[in-house]
Amino acid sequence: MEIDELKKLAKATAQNAYSPFSKFKVGSAILTTNGDVFAGCNIESSSLTFNICAERNAISNAISGKGNIQIEKVVIYTPTQKAASPCGSCRQLIFEFGKDASVYSHCDSEDYIQMNIRELLPAAFDFSEQ
Ligand code: THU
Repeated sequence: MEIDELKKLAKATAQNAYSPFSKFKVGSAILTTNGDVFAGCNIESSSLTFNICAERNAISNAISGKGNIQIEKVVIYTPTQKAASPCGSCRQLIFEFGKDASVYSHCDSEDYIQMNIRELLPAAFDFSEQ
Protein backbone atom coordinates (compact mmCIF):
# COMPACT_ATOMS: atom_id res chain seq x y z
CA MET A 1 0.00 0.00 0.00
CA GLU A 2 1.28 3.46 -0.91
CA ILE A 3 1.97 6.13 1.69
CA ASP A 4 -1.06 8.25 0.67
CA GLU A 5 -3.39 5.32 1.25
CA LEU A 6 -1.76 4.58 4.59
CA LYS A 7 -2.32 8.21 5.54
CA LYS A 8 -5.99 7.98 4.59
CA LEU A 9 -6.37 4.79 6.60
CA ALA A 10 -4.72 6.35 9.66
CA LYS A 11 -7.01 9.38 9.41
CA ALA A 12 -10.14 7.25 8.97
CA THR A 13 -9.16 5.05 11.92
CA ALA A 14 -8.70 8.10 14.16
CA GLN A 15 -12.48 8.55 13.92
CA ASN A 16 -12.88 5.34 15.93
CA ALA A 17 -10.74 6.60 18.81
CA TYR A 18 -12.16 6.34 22.31
CA SER A 19 -10.65 9.40 23.92
CA PRO A 20 -13.30 11.08 26.09
CA PHE A 21 -10.65 12.33 28.54
CA SER A 22 -8.08 13.93 26.28
CA LYS A 23 -10.53 14.49 23.40
CA PHE A 24 -7.52 13.76 21.17
CA LYS A 25 -8.25 11.29 18.38
CA VAL A 26 -5.17 9.57 17.00
CA GLY A 27 -5.04 7.05 14.17
CA SER A 28 -2.20 4.87 12.97
CA ALA A 29 -1.59 2.52 10.06
CA ILE A 30 1.35 0.18 9.73
CA LEU A 31 2.76 -1.57 6.70
CA THR A 32 4.72 -4.75 7.33
CA THR A 33 7.61 -5.99 5.19
CA ASN A 34 5.20 -8.68 3.89
CA GLY A 35 2.89 -5.98 2.55
CA ASP A 36 0.20 -6.45 5.19
CA VAL A 37 -1.57 -3.39 6.55
CA PHE A 38 -3.08 -2.90 10.00
CA ALA A 39 -4.64 0.10 11.70
CA GLY A 40 -5.30 1.27 15.25
CA CYS A 41 -6.71 4.18 17.20
CA ASN A 42 -6.11 5.34 20.76
CA ILE A 43 -8.26 4.01 23.60
CA GLU A 44 -8.46 5.64 27.02
CA SER A 45 -9.78 4.39 30.35
CA SER A 46 -11.64 6.10 33.14
CA SER A 47 -9.02 4.84 35.57
CA LEU A 48 -6.82 7.52 33.96
CA THR A 49 -3.81 5.39 34.82
CA PHE A 50 -3.35 3.93 31.39
CA ASN A 51 -4.26 4.39 27.77
CA ILE A 52 -3.53 2.56 24.57
CA CYS A 53 -1.90 4.72 21.92
CA ALA A 54 -2.96 4.38 18.30
CA GLU A 55 0.47 3.11 17.21
CA ARG A 56 0.55 0.45 19.92
CA ASN A 57 -2.96 -0.63 19.00
CA ALA A 58 -2.03 -0.98 15.30
CA ILE A 59 1.02 -3.06 16.26
CA SER A 60 -1.10 -5.25 18.57
CA ASN A 61 -3.56 -5.82 15.75
CA ALA A 62 -0.73 -6.79 13.41
CA ILE A 63 0.80 -9.26 15.85
CA SER A 64 -2.59 -10.73 16.73
CA GLY A 65 -3.31 -11.24 13.04
CA LYS A 66 0.06 -12.31 11.69
CA GLY A 67 2.39 -13.24 14.53
CA ASN A 68 5.97 -12.00 14.50
CA ILE A 69 5.71 -9.14 12.01
CA GLN A 70 8.40 -6.77 10.78
CA ILE A 71 7.30 -3.16 10.44
CA GLU A 72 8.33 -1.23 7.33
CA LYS A 73 6.27 1.93 7.86
CA VAL A 74 4.28 3.49 10.66
CA VAL A 75 1.90 6.31 9.79
CA ILE A 76 0.37 8.51 12.49
CA TYR A 77 -2.45 10.99 12.05
CA THR A 78 -3.48 13.62 14.60
CA PRO A 79 -6.26 16.20 14.05
CA THR A 80 -3.90 19.09 14.74
CA GLN A 81 -2.00 21.82 12.92
CA LYS A 82 1.32 20.36 14.00
CA ALA A 83 2.40 16.77 13.35
CA ALA A 84 2.91 14.63 16.49
CA SER A 85 5.75 12.21 17.17
CA PRO A 86 5.09 8.85 18.84
CA CYS A 87 5.52 8.68 22.63
CA GLY A 88 8.56 6.99 24.16
CA SER A 89 6.84 3.67 24.87
CA CYS A 90 5.53 3.42 21.32
CA ARG A 91 8.98 4.22 19.94
CA GLN A 92 10.35 1.23 21.84
CA LEU A 93 7.55 -1.01 20.56
CA ILE A 94 8.02 0.18 16.97
CA PHE A 95 11.75 -0.52 17.29
CA GLU A 96 11.00 -3.97 18.74
CA PHE A 97 9.17 -4.97 15.56
CA GLY A 98 10.88 -2.77 13.00
CA LYS A 99 14.57 -2.08 13.53
CA ASP A 100 14.60 0.06 10.37
CA ALA A 101 11.00 1.34 10.36
CA SER A 102 10.16 4.69 8.78
CA VAL A 103 7.76 6.76 10.87
CA TYR A 104 5.50 9.33 9.16
CA SER A 105 3.40 11.77 11.16
CA HIS A 106 0.79 13.89 9.44
CA CYS A 107 -2.00 16.20 10.53
CA ASP A 108 -4.53 18.73 9.22
CA SER A 109 -1.91 21.15 7.85
CA GLU A 110 1.07 20.62 5.58
CA ASP A 111 3.28 20.02 8.62
CA TYR A 112 4.72 16.51 8.74
CA ILE A 113 7.52 14.52 10.34
CA GLN A 114 9.32 11.67 8.64
CA MET A 115 12.03 9.96 10.66
CA ASN A 116 13.63 6.57 10.98
CA ILE A 117 12.92 4.80 14.27
CA ARG A 118 16.65 4.82 15.11
CA GLU A 119 16.62 8.60 14.86
CA LEU A 120 13.52 8.78 17.06
CA LEU A 121 14.99 6.35 19.59
CA PRO A 122 18.77 6.60 19.59
CA ALA A 123 20.58 4.02 21.72
CA ALA A 124 17.40 1.94 21.95
CA PHE A 125 17.32 -1.00 24.30
CA ASP A 126 17.71 -4.13 22.16
CA PHE A 127 17.34 -7.33 24.15
CA SER A 128 18.51 -9.43 21.19
CA GLU A 129 21.96 -7.81 21.62
CA GLN A 130 22.27 -8.57 25.35
N1 THU B 1 -1.61 9.31 21.75
C1 THU B 1 -1.48 8.39 20.76
O1 THU B 1 -2.39 7.57 20.53
N2 THU B 1 -0.35 8.40 20.01
C2 THU B 1 0.65 9.31 20.16
O2 THU B 1 1.63 9.25 19.42
C3 THU B 1 0.58 10.35 21.19
C4 THU B 1 -0.58 10.26 22.11
C5 THU B 1 -2.86 9.32 22.53
C6 THU B 1 -2.74 8.84 23.94
C7 THU B 1 -3.92 9.55 24.59
O3 THU B 1 -5.10 8.80 24.38
C8 THU B 1 -4.04 10.84 23.81
O4 THU B 1 -3.36 10.64 22.60
C9 THU B 1 -3.46 12.05 24.52
O5 THU B 1 -2.17 11.83 24.93
